[in-house]
Amino acid sequence: MLKHESKERADTASMLPEKLRNELAELIAHGVHPREKAVDVMFIIQKHLGYMSDAAMIEAADLLGMSPTQLEELATFYNMIFREPVGRYILQVCDSAVCWLENHQSVMDHISNRLSISPGETTADGLFTLLPVCCIGYCDHAPAMLINDRAYGDLTPDKIDRLLERYRNMAREITTEAVRTEAKERDTDPT
Ligand code: FES
Repeated sequence: MLKHESKERADTASMLPEKLRNELAELIAHGVHPREKAVDVMFIIQKHLGYMSDAAMIEAADLLGMSPTQLEELATFYNMIFREPVGRYILQVCDSAVCWLENHQSVMDHISNRLSISPGETTADGLFTLLPVCCIGYCDHAPAMLINDRAYGDLTPDKIDRLLERYRNMAREITTEAVRTEAKERDTDPT
């Protein structure tokens, strides 16, 4: 049992928005056994919150009828369940056999240098998190990595630089669009 588990259960009973909580409850109700939806539930909450905080784990476990410890054990099997805050773009560099032979370390080092972070860290602007990962099934294009859920292979320093720039630009566009939408909503809000 997690430390102060019962207290946290009470304190965090409604940390998820009601709409999301209801959607999750409906999803769980469709399973033969609630626990079979545990991974889906964690991914949905993570999409909403950015990562699975302790409080989120406790609330998810509560919805699933599991103990937080049981859910925690399950989460450890999934690289893409994040228990700490991560950046908008998660760079997961494969360090399994084929990529290792193709000098995956040079990929890791190049990204580390370019972003000034070590594996396991997130850039100060919150854009990128760098992590090692086991084989991503892209061995014929080693060395390879994932950026969020998209695979990139045949990585070279130039290709990595282009990818980082592309994702930076995407982030800028998303921010600009969000500002535009907010301004538009403000202009059309009659209140
Ligand atoms: S060993 Fe790296 S993608 Fe398979």
